Amino acid sequence: MRKKIVAGNWKMNKTAAEAFVLATEVAQLVKSDVPADVQVIMATPALYLTGVSQVVEGMSNLDVAAQNCHEKASGAYTGEISAVQLASAAIPYVLIGHSERREYFAESNEQLAAKVDAALANGITPIFCCGESLSLREGGDFLAFVADQLTASLFHLSAEEFGKVVIAYEPIWAIGTGLTASAGQAQEMHAHLRVHIAAKYGATVADDCSILYGGSCNAKNAQEIFAGPDVDGGLIGGASLIAADFITIAKSF
Ligand code: G3H
Repeated sequence: MRKKIVAGNWKMNKTAAEAFVLATEVAQLVKSDVPADVQVIMATPALYLTGVSQVVEGMSNLDVAAQNCHEKASGAYTGEISAVQLASAAIPYVLIGHSERREYFAESNEQLAAKVDAALANGITPIFCCGESLSLREGGDFLAFVADQLTASLFHLSAEEFGKVVIAYEPIWAIGTGLTASAGQAQEMHAHLRVHIAAKYGATVADDCSILYGGSCNAKNAQEIFAGPDVDGGLIGGASLIAADFITIAKSF
């Protein structure tokens, strides 16, 4: 059975002191308010990963994620962090292919495939992000485009490997814009991706795959979005920076 997951992507926000306060508040609220079958994740800036790991230590349904990793294991890649290094610090999840990485750091489908491989080889769960631009949405070809992103970066995996991947659908036009995909639009894409996965890996693998929605998801709209039968949770940006809002979202199933 697939997992319900609510992951917060802090992006490049919070000072060290603020990060500790936010992580501590989230940890307290997860303990008191969030059902045990909901996995909550905080994707913090790399600098805070080990500190936040200590805050969540011993909690079964709260964990940390890196926001990126390099595909190589080590070497002269100034400023980068490898999956090997994340694993050595016991970081269990990593976001891969966020649209901001694709856009501002020119990450290609091929490079993302290599990052997925690096994460899996090191026992880290990739949260693979995909999604279309506004022009693609308006052009009408968005379902095929997003399915192709999965094909390009994930479909070289074996069924066993693919079974370890979490998908996050994030329409670029909805990220940080206040424009949310409607519950119907989210469900339509998630169902399409699940059919696409089933065609490659079979119904069981597709049924077991958690597909999260991201893009201006907040404490007010999460419940309606998560009601979609193929929506297994969310990847939350802005609203993950306020503990109470983030936890409200984690309770929205
Ligand atoms: O990774 C999270 C997404 O980019 C969504 O961000 O909730 O601020 O729109 P947002």
